[in-house]
Amino acid sequence: MLQTAGDAPFIDYTSQFRLDGRLALVVGAGSGIGQAVANGLAQMGAAVVCADARPAPAAATAGAIGGLATSIELDLTDTLSIEAALLEIGAPHVLVTTPSVNVRKRIIDYTDDELDRVVDLNLKGTFKLCRTFGRAMADAGRGSMIGFSSVRSQTTEPGQGAYAATKAATVMLFKTLAAELGPAGVRANVVAPGVVETPLTKQITSQPAWHQAYADKAILRRWAQPSEMVGAVIYLASDAASYVTGSTVFVDGGWTAADGRFDPPS
Ligand SMILES: NC(=O)c1ccc[n+]([C@@H]2O[C@H](COP(=O)([O-])OP(=O)(O)OC[C@H]3O[C@@H](n4cnc5c(N)ncnc54)[C@H](O)[C@@H]3O)[C@@H](O)[C@H]2O)c1
Repeated sequence: MLQTAGDAPFIDYTSQFRLDGRLALVVGAGSGIGQAVANGLAQMGAAVVCADARPAPAAATAGAIGGLATSIELDLTDTLSIEAALLEIGAPHVLVTTPSVNVRKRIIDYTDDELDRVVDLNLKGTFKLCRTFGRAMADAGRGSMIGFSSVRSQTTEPGQGAYAATKAATVMLFKTLAAELGPAGVRANVVAPGVVETPLTKQITSQPAWHQAYADKAILRRWAQPSEMVGAVIYLASDAASYVTGSTVFVDGGWTAADGRFDPPS
């Protein structure tokens, strides 16, 4: 085993992923990946606050988890709502933020309203949340911030202009958080999923040819389920990732590893 100066010779690696005694705020917990992540963090021992702009689904997630889970209404696009949430729950040990929208339309056809919708939530909302909670977590001198980017931060297609730009921006936002808050003991990383069957992708999953084309693009030849995003978040949230910051963890079935155009005969 590689040892660093001052490290104990044997560490209990099985407990490194546990989150007992930690407070985790999951924004977007009312649906899809956020819902699964809230469940996973709770199973690892965290007291999870399920936050969403839609309070009923957030409460439903917390209710289904049970135990220490609670819920709160939080609108990412509203600074006052973010600050009220911080006042209510205090600085969490773990912050996960998932909310994003996509308007799939070519750049030359985009309206100002559509552009504002995508940028206001995906970029500005995430920024505002990280600003308020990053400050509090840095003051507390510890924590792990986890954002959600996408394979669209790296590879695009017609109709993804605004969304892809915000997902690339999310990578740089979290790298900058890592740089600014690292000295205060706060880590910041992003998870970049491939295609996941959630309400966000219903437009695609409801069209068989489109759904199949995306399955074929991934090396694993299928879509992911939200539960398959949870392991990466638990890892980044926990002490198992104590030296991991400013990173992007791709959970994409190999989407970004191979171009998928052709399988040459051997
Ligand atoms: N689903 C995919 O295929 C996929 C692929 C790549 C990346 N991602 C990323 O993963 C993340 C989660 O996606 P998902 O599929 O779980 O989405 P989703 O649409 O299923 O869930 C998003 C949740 O965010 C909440 N929300 C919306 N606006 C909000 C606001 N202003 N304030 C607070 N909450 C708000 C919604 O109510 C909803 O519960 C997104 O950042 C997305 O870009 C998803």
